[in-house]
Amino acid sequence: MGYPHTSHQRETAVLSQYFGDTEARTLDGWKKRGGYQALEKALGMTPADIVNVVKESGLRGRGGAGFPTGMKWSFMKPGDGKPHYLCCNADESEPGTFKDREIMRWTPHAVVEGCAIGAYAIGAEVAYIYIRGEFTEPIMWMERALQEAYAAGILGANAMGTGKRIDIYVHRGAGAYICGEETALMNSLEGRRGNPRIKPPFPAVAGVFGQPTTINNVETLAAVCPILMKGAEWYKGMCLSNPKSTGSKLYSVCGNIQYPGTYEVVMGFSFKDFLYDVCGGPVKGRKFKAVIPGGASVPIQTMEEAEATLMDYEGFIAQGSMLGSGGVIVIDDAQNMVRIIARLARFFAHESCAQCTQCREGTAWTTKILERIRDGQGTMEDLDTLMGIANNMTGTTICVLSDSCATPVISGIKKFRPEFEALIHGKRVHSVMAAVA
Ligand SMILES: Cc1cc2nc3c(=O)[nH]c(=O)nc-3n(C[C@H](O)[C@H](O)[C@H](O)COP(=O)(O)O)c2cc1C
Repeated sequence: MGYPHTSHQRETAVLSQYFGDTEARTLDGWKKRGGYQALEKALGMTPADIVNVVKESGLRGRGGAGFPTGMKWSFMKPGDGKPHYLCCNADESEPGTFKDREIMRWTPHAVVEGCAIGAYAIGAEVAYIYIRGEFTEPIMWMERALQEAYAAGILGANAMGTGKRIDIYVHRGAGAYICGEETALMNSLEGRRGNPRIKPPFPAVAGVFGQPTTINNVETLAAVCPILMKGAEWYKGMCLSNPKSTGSKLYSVCGNIQYPGTYEVVMGFSFKDFLYDVCGGPVKGRKFKAVIPGGASVPIQTMEEAEATLMDYEGFIAQGSMLGSGGVIVIDDAQNMVRIIARLARFFAHESCAQCTQCREGTAWTTKILERIRDGQGTMEDLDTLMGIANNMTGTTICVLSDSCATPVISGIKKFRPEFEALIHGKRVHSVMAAVA
């Protein structure tokens, strides 16, 4: 979708090309825009050939970890005599992240098509779209798209008349962040409590219902359609910096910025240009102070780091953070960092499944101490205690929710220590209310 304030050349609309185009939501509209040609092409190829094209394209998982998609698919062993499953991860509960929601709202058939291609490529006859329960509108569009695809014979026992079976189901989550973690998602799908599972066994060996399973993010699966139609070379060509990061990427931008929204740029784009030009810069009278570039779980960047970043997997790491889910949270000089970090910690404490001690206790204690500092009751010793707890919460649990809570605490104290110290020493550094007044 074009944004009136931006020069459109700066955005590269591949997955977002039809955002805002209501006709693209229907099967007819989707087909008129070239929809389902990728699936038709895929069903005429061998699964191994599809996996090779995806490998060659360099596509990496858009759910957060950036794992190479083709390689993940190649872990599913053909001819093992077991039912295989594909799970499309549409839980999207990471604070600051809302790009999968836009894909599902505007181009639900892109998700159906991507799931069908993915399922066929990994030898699965069944795919589940595990979708966040609060996403009532995207759920409606996804269910409509599935109904249309079944009625047109695109899905079912004889998908597109090829004799191949592809069934896709929408499964609603019940509003738990942890169910976006792939093994918790599988437990939830099976009707169990959404607790992460210990790995190994990895999902490709024993996943949903104990059978080989692949889990992919909505954006990852949607990207497979243009890759199949336009080829791996075309996709690899969308790269301005590191050849290990290819293609276009959707970013959801929120917080203290002129034009929040969902934007798509090619890998390696300048983060400075993105924040100041594409997204319009700070709101009038304010300056940017910090950015959390990849959803609440990634380290906070100073503006110096953010402005030096090239937007790809390696570029964010080189500047002290991670690309994560692409949920860009922008923080300006009216905000107090302690308040923000305390708010994030409270979120993680609320969402911890409480299975692992370090996470259950760590997220709760971190929240208590941060809120104490925020309220002017903290001590300098609290900062050391926070760092100690955060270190014990990192790399010690079944899943990385615990690490995610520790991350803003560690990066926040390291990069914005004077704001913590000012509150401890009784000086109120520009609180939100003071700044607004
Ligand atoms: C606590 C937690 C929450 C997560 N939430 C999501 C989510 O909402 N959506 C998502 O795609 N991946 C989420 N992930 C990552 C998934 O576990 C998994 O890596 C991803 O779905 C794989 O898809 P991809 O390879 O296409 O990125 C989460 C991970 C953790 C630890």
